[in-house]
Order: sequence, then structure tokens, then C-alpha cells
Amino acid sequence: MADYINIGRVKIRRTAALAPMAGVADRAYRLMCIKYGAAYAVSEMVSAKGICYSDRKTAELCAVTDEERPMAVQLFGSEPEFMEKAVNIVLEYKPDIIDINMGCPVPKVINTGAGSAIMKNPRLAGELTAAAVRAAGDVPVTVKIRSGWDINSVNAADVAKYAEDAGAAAVAVHGRTREQFYGGTADLNVIKAVKNAVRIPVIGNGDVGSAESCIRMYEETGCDLVMIGRGSYGNPFVFREIEAYIGGEEYSPPTLEEKMNVMLEHIRLILELSPKTEELAMHEARKHAAWYMNGYYGSAKFRGRCYQLNSYAESESLAGEFVALQRSRKK
Ligand SMILES: Cc1cc2nc3c(=O)[nH]c(=O)nc-3n(C[C@H](O)[C@H](O)[C@H](O)COP(=O)(O)O)c2cc1C
Repeated sequence: MADYINIGRVKIRRTAALAPMAGVADRAYRLMCIKYGAAYAVSEMVSAKGICYSDRKTAELCAVTDEERPMAVQLFGSEPEFMEKAVNIVLEYKPDIIDINMGCPVPKVINTGAGSAIMKNPRLAGELTAAAVRAAGDVPVTVKIRSGWDINSVNAADVAKYAEDAGAAAVAVHGRTREQFYGGTADLNVIKAVKNAVRIPVIGNGDVGSAESCIRMYEETGCDLVMIGRGSYGNPFVFREIEAYIGGEEYSPPTLEEKMNVMLEHIRLILELSPKTEELAMHEARKHAAWYMNGYYGSAKFRGRCYQLNSYAESESLAGEFVALQRSRKK
């Protein structure tokens, strides 16, 4: 297996990338995943139209720091004119890649004709890609799609071809239809069909959360890179596990104590990067804390307590209590 892939002029280690996740994969999250081995990261989705009207949250969402590179800024929209203008604006933030969201299933987005609604109109997928490519110059443009709109219209390969013909440098495929939202399982055959249909790199996505499932994605689909979303919840270690596996190195999973230390590190980063007060920023940190505690004895109760955390000091003592509980069980 090659060590790297190229998306346009951007070289990316062929291990695993972090998927875009609005409301989850913010800068603190991306930095944690990159520290633990994510080869590439994508921003939370940003509205192309919103950017054109200089929405105040925009700068925050588009900013790319050097520690996060290679990183894409992801745009969503359904109008080629706004897409082109938005790319021009986003270029000021110097993203390595510009990605177009053609997979978001939420009504607020699809009601504007954007996100996975674009799967219903492959021609529009091509027009949006062409508009972005026109503005992007030598910055590669990629698209992120689903299998199709519903089970009766699985057309990812068709949409991917339109994007490729319009100049896309890669395509990421989440192997679910819009109708499935996040239910059921991702269909690896669709990803394989896309891989067979285009010459640009294909990024496989859906249900990967371990080295084993990552290798399965590579082997069964022939994809060029794997992308992980929910499998990294409270688990940035998944990227290191994959890196070690692919590199033929020994890997030992983190102990609970190590996990709790990483959880606290993640919370500190959220607090440091947030412009909000400690108490308000802790609201953002709560779900992450709960995810790090998943899968242990008494997790449900502790996860509930995570949702009441109001300060870093409280999270430190909760982590201590959690470790003590697990230790007492081992005796
Ligand atoms: C909370 C959440 C937010 C998401 N936000 C985005 C987004 O902004 N852009 C996008 O293309 N996909 C988004 N997705 C979809 C993921 O990138 C990914 O395609 C999906 O979760 C399947 O991969 P997984 O099984 O590894 O999680 C989101 C998913 C989740 C769970």
C-alpha cells in the first residue's frame, strides 16, 4: 500500500482522515485527532451564502491554523454563483483544499437544495464543482457525497463522475443514502462502485472505528483514503491505532488513566480556544467528556454527570472518581 495519496497538489498520509462534523469536529477536536495521528481534517460545514453575506460565525469556522494542515474548509450551498463567490472569500483563510458538502441530510440544509439534496441532481453537482474550481485556482476542490437520495436512487458513481468531469480532485463517499440518515450500515459496495467509476482519489467513509474496520474499508472498496467521523468520539486514539497497524508497529490501547488525561487535555484545549466564559465553554466540553467515559462499568451514570459539568475543576474530580470506581472493581 502506498504511503501517501495526492489530492491535487496536497500530499496526505494514507492512514485515516477526520470527517467533517458540524457541532463536534471544531478546532479543539481536530487538533486532538491530529495529535493522535489523523492524516487530514475537514472543517465543520460553512454556508456559502452565509459567507457571502459575511455571517459573523464564518471567520471562526473557516480559519485554518498551521497545526491543522493539511485541512479542507467545507462549504455547503446550492447556487453556483454563491459557491464561486464563497470560494473566493474562503481562499483568504488559505485552506489546503476546498470541499463541497453534498451529503448533509438535515432538513434545514436540504430545504435550501443543498447537502444531500444535490444527490437528486447530478448535473447541479457538476455545476457547483465547476463554479468552485473556477474560483479556487490551484487549490484542489473535492466533494463529499452519499450513496444517493434513497434506496431507489443510489447514484453516487454518477454524481462522482459529474464532479470529476467538472474538475474535482477527489470524492469522499459516505455509504448511506439520505433516507438512511445515520441508521443501518454503510454500503461498501457503493464506495467500490465509485472507485471503479472515476480516476480521481476516492475517500471511503462510514462506520469505521478501529484498525480492523479501516482495513476492511481499504480492502473491500479499493478506496484511496479512509475517513472517520463518529468512531473518533472520545477516541482520537483510533488514528494512532490505524497508523500503527498500517506501519506494522505494535499498538497498545490507552489505559483508562491515559484516556482520562487525554479527556482533560481536550477540555483544557476547548476552554483555551473558546472566547466564552469557562462555564459556557464547559457546555461544549460536556458531550466530549461523556464520550471519553463510554464503555466502562457505571458509564451511564457518569455520562449523565458529565452533562452537569460547569468547570474544569469539576471535570478533574469527576475523572478521578471514575478512575477510582474502575480500580475498585478490579480488586
Ligand atoms: C454530528 C455530526 C455532524 C456532521 N456534520 C457534517 C458536516 O458538517 N459535513 C459533512 O460533510 N458531513 C457531516 N457529517 C457526516 C460525517 O462527516 C460522516 O459522513 C458520517 O458521520 C459517516 O461517517 P462515520 O460513520 O465515520 O461517522 C456529520 C456527522 C455527524 C454525526
